[in-house]
Amino acid sequence: MYAENPRGFFITFEGLDGSGKSTQLRKLAERLEADNLPITVTRQPGGTRTGDRIRALLLDSRTENLAPKTELGLMFSDRAQAIAEVIEPALAGGRVVLCDRFTDSTEAYQGGGRELGSELVLRLHAAICGELQPDLTILLLPDFERSLARARRRNQRTASESADENRFEREAEPFYRRVWNAYRQIAAREPLRVVAIEGDAGIEEVHRRIVDVVRERLADHDTRSPRSSHA
Ligand code: TMP
Repeated sequence: MYAENPRGFFITFEGLDGSGKSTQLRKLAERLEADNLPITVTRQPGGTRTGDRIRALLLDSRTENLAPKTELGLMFSDRAQAIAEVIEPALAGGRVVLCDRFTDSTEAYQGGGRELGSELVLRLHAAICGELQPDLTILLLPDFERSLARARRRNQRTASESADENRFEREAEPFYRRVWNAYRQIAAREPLRVVAIEGDAGIEEVHRRIVDVVRERLADHDTRSPRSSHA
């Protein structure tokens, strides 16, 4: 729990490119809105004006020769801005924050994929994000090959555009294997925070499972620290 803010609730979505996490986040947001919960939806990198500029630099495949530590620093620069501008104010206002990717992505992609290691990522998290941790992380782990194939199809569809978001999706399979393994290690290390949904159960079934776990955790949270308003 985010000690300084007992009221808000912070949910992150994680997974490989092509895992379907953005679709699931959108569907959960619609459901919670229908339940009249105050929600804030954001993503990383991006989600602020500064963050969108950092995102463009990070994801555009014309950005060449980015050193792994430059990439790492930019991910945390984006995150620092998002925390200050969006996440902390929303949590302080008692809102449910849904964030598409957070530090687990950095641990999986830069720590695992780029082989910078978890320790460096976690030390930077402590320095920059302090005690802030998601209350709940939904990790989508559908079949590895299918995720990769989906990400590559998306890549081909946008390859002709001058500015694209394909820099990561062009990575070779071993990179994604390392990302995948890092995600599994995070899930094994933090089984309470991270709920891993494995396999290809279909969009509606996965959505149902996510709604169940979110409702359960929110009820638990409300019992411990009643929300002052459901504005
Ligand atoms: P997405 O918005 O489609 O999920 O794409 C964001 C890309 O950025 C994705 O390939 C994962 C990558 N990424 C990192 O490598 N490290 C990070 O910390 C974050 C937030 C994203």
